[in-house]
Amino acid sequence: MPEEINVPLLDLKAQYDTIRDEIEPLLRDVVESQWFIMGPNVADFETAVASYCGAEHAVGCASGSDALLLALMAHDIGPGDEVICPSYTFFATGGSIWRLGAKPVFCDIEAGTYNCTVDTIAEAAGRCSRLKAIMPVHLFGQAVDLDGILDFAESKGVPVIEDAAQAIGSRDTGGARVGSRGHVGCFSFFPSKNLGGFGDGGIVTTNDGDLADRMRRLRNHGMEPKYYHDEVGLNSRLDALQAAVLNVKLRHLDDWTDGRRRNAAEYDRMFDEAGAGTSGMSIQDADIPLLRPSCPVAPSRHIYNQYVIRVPSEIRDELRANLVENRIGHDVYYPVPLHCQVCFKELAEATGSLPETESAALQTIALPVYPELSMEQKQHVASTIISFVKSHATVEAG
Ligand SMILES: Cc1ncc(COP(=O)(O)O)c(C=O)c1O
Repeated sequence: MPEEINVPLLDLKAQYDTIRDEIEPLLRDVVESQWFIMGPNVADFETAVASYCGAEHAVGCASGSDALLLALMAHDIGPGDEVICPSYTFFATGGSIWRLGAKPVFCDIEAGTYNCTVDTIAEAAGRCSRLKAIMPVHLFGQAVDLDGILDFAESKGVPVIEDAAQAIGSRDTGGARVGSRGHVGCFSFFPSKNLGGFGDGGIVTTNDGDLADRMRRLRNHGMEPKYYHDEVGLNSRLDALQAAVLNVKLRHLDDWTDGRRRNAAEYDRMFDEAGAGTSGMSIQDADIPLLRPSCPVAPSRHIYNQYVIRVPSEIRDELRANLVENRIGHDVYYPVPLHCQVCFKELAEATGSLPETESAALQTIALPVYPELSMEQKQHVASTIISFVKSHATVEAG
């Protein structure tokens, strides 16, 4: 009997097998040195990330969530201040704002990219009376169109803090890397990211030397010089073991991203041949009830931290059950938008409805796209989905 094909959502072991020989001696070096916090590995990694992202400075920290917090703290965001961010994102985007006593003001997304736009941000700004910052998210690895957003932020006199947690190496429509144009770029090295550590880690990028210095102090209790504190900061340093791992992985990042992009292109081709539409159009207008992600043209560069498809909400759960039956890993990012979360219920009335966000939350599914996927695995994923949606082709899209 032929072996059954399994396709996990992510296979970090497959990646580790290709870099074990590079990483293990470096981990041993750190252990032998017993220099675990900060140190030369962290300094080297900061220099390498700044150069990779096209930013002047990079400051390592303990997680992507802390990167957001440091960026907000460095802009003196506090109680009563308002920060615009999308509702369709990972919790940390809104959570970081809330933790400082400030108020997230949620904006909608556009259906084509799942990203916020200058128009959705301007709509949210109309609900603000104390706007202090704008925090767009480069969701799933696709860059937000920052041109209009930067101009809009300037007209309001507020900074743009890029949540680039999912998007290292992504390029915008002008070809600029994320984290190079906003006042601060915030990145996560959570293991599932394209550049993932062996635990938590994060970094902030900026072209402003004063902001970089302040975030460097803030990540270390606001301390400078030793044991002197002009302000209260965090304990949020990047540790040497993570930096050693990430220094090695950064050298492979573009190859891995190319692998993800090739996988996405293969899925696109298979779905297109079957009659799928692309995100941004209505599912009813596609030949089968399936939309694959729209693919930006060069010099834009999607890094596919997630490859996200869309089906009518009425069949999503059934499709998920079918994927489980066929041993295909997948997930829903994100089933509950931030403006519908219980912890933000006091913001619900002021937010009102965000229709594109609410519809994406009901219709999307993320598929395996990690670089080590085999052609057989991709074909299994695509053919399973295509035959399922074809057999449900009469369902009205909702
Ligand atoms: C959009 C976004 N922002 C922030 C974060 C927080 O990063 P971390 O998990 O490293 O704290 C994540 C992590 O998943 C994310 O996806």
